[in-house]
Amino acid sequence: MRNDFGSFPQRRMRRMRVNPFVRSLRRETFLSAADLIYPVFIVDSKNQSQDIPSMPGVKRLCEKDLLAVAERSLAAGLTSLALFPVIEAQIKSLDGAAAFDSQGLTARTVRLLKKYFPQLGIICDVALDPYMSHGHDGLLGADGQVLNDETVAILKRQALCLAEAGCDIVAPSDMMDGRIGAIRQGLDHSAFQQTAILAYSAKYNSGYYGPFRDAVGSKVNAREVDKATYQMDPHNSDEAMMEIALDLEEGADMVIIKPGLPYLDIIRRVKDRFQVPTFAYQVSGEYAMLKAAGLQGWIDEKRCALEALVCLKRAGCDAIMTYYGLEAGEWLQQQQD
Ligand code: PBG
Repeated sequence: MRNDFGSFPQRRMRRMRVNPFVRSLRRETFLSAADLIYPVFIVDSKNQSQDIPSMPGVKRLCEKDLLAVAERSLAAGLTSLALFPVIEAQIKSLDGAAAFDSQGLTARTVRLLKKYFPQLGIICDVALDPYMSHGHDGLLGADGQVLNDETVAILKRQALCLAEAGCDIVAPSDMMDGRIGAIRQGLDHSAFQQTAILAYSAKYNSGYYGPFRDAVGSKVNAREVDKATYQMDPHNSDEAMMEIALDLEEGADMVIIKPGLPYLDIIRRVKDRFQVPTFAYQVSGEYAMLKAAGLQGWIDEKRCALEALVCLKRAGCDAIMTYYGLEAGEWLQQQQD
């Protein structure tokens, strides 16, 4: 048996695995807390924090608990939080007006976090689903279809409202066409040239979002809405390359692939082809699977969760959004001590 690496037994691969020191020398990929973005669900301050049954260990946070989480996150070496509002049913509507309310939950929370933790990066989702009574990411036309351009006009106002509140990065997760260009133009015209755009460019129509939809209450009568006319078909990969190319052309600073682990091939293709800041979102269903198996004692949760995150980095991610953010940050810190 001959190949470029020499033949057996001269080439003994186990020599480089023989002890921790050589293993660490040859290690290619590193995971650190600074790679992790921690998504948090926020609720109106008069409420208490609430558990989310399909995401054990994750809560809808009230103001007080959110501030404590922000402090712990910074202490664990995380640099940023991504905010996901849980909006009360009576505030939801068919026009999504609450999405650009400067006194609304998200804008108020951004100002609060920036006041206490100015160094903490704040990323806000731009999409209408938390604000819509029907749970879609956009306005519905008479025929029940999600309207593109009319939705983009509202997303632009939402992004501006978030930037005004002090958000550092806006992250459109709606999958409407042309929204990155429109948002960039809207921000630039209002002197927010420094507000960055993290585009959910390759967002798949995934079953793995189920627990998230429980968390934000975007299911209607306990059923998930069908987003197949705007989110991508999981069977496709070339289509993701087109989405990424368009979003970069329109001004995206970073791109995100979502979900994470089942889409490692997409991450690698994107990183190889575009060489831009490439992120993944390890979504709610991925978290729920690891957590549930861990709670059953069927897998070593910590080991498997950290492994999944390392694999996302190895595939090409520069950063990862993960509900394990805070916990993983603290695990990594303990490993260093
Ligand atoms: C919607 C949005 C979704 C997630 C983040 N923003 C889900 C959806 O399309 O309904 C899912 C994230 C997760 O599952 O953790 N704008």
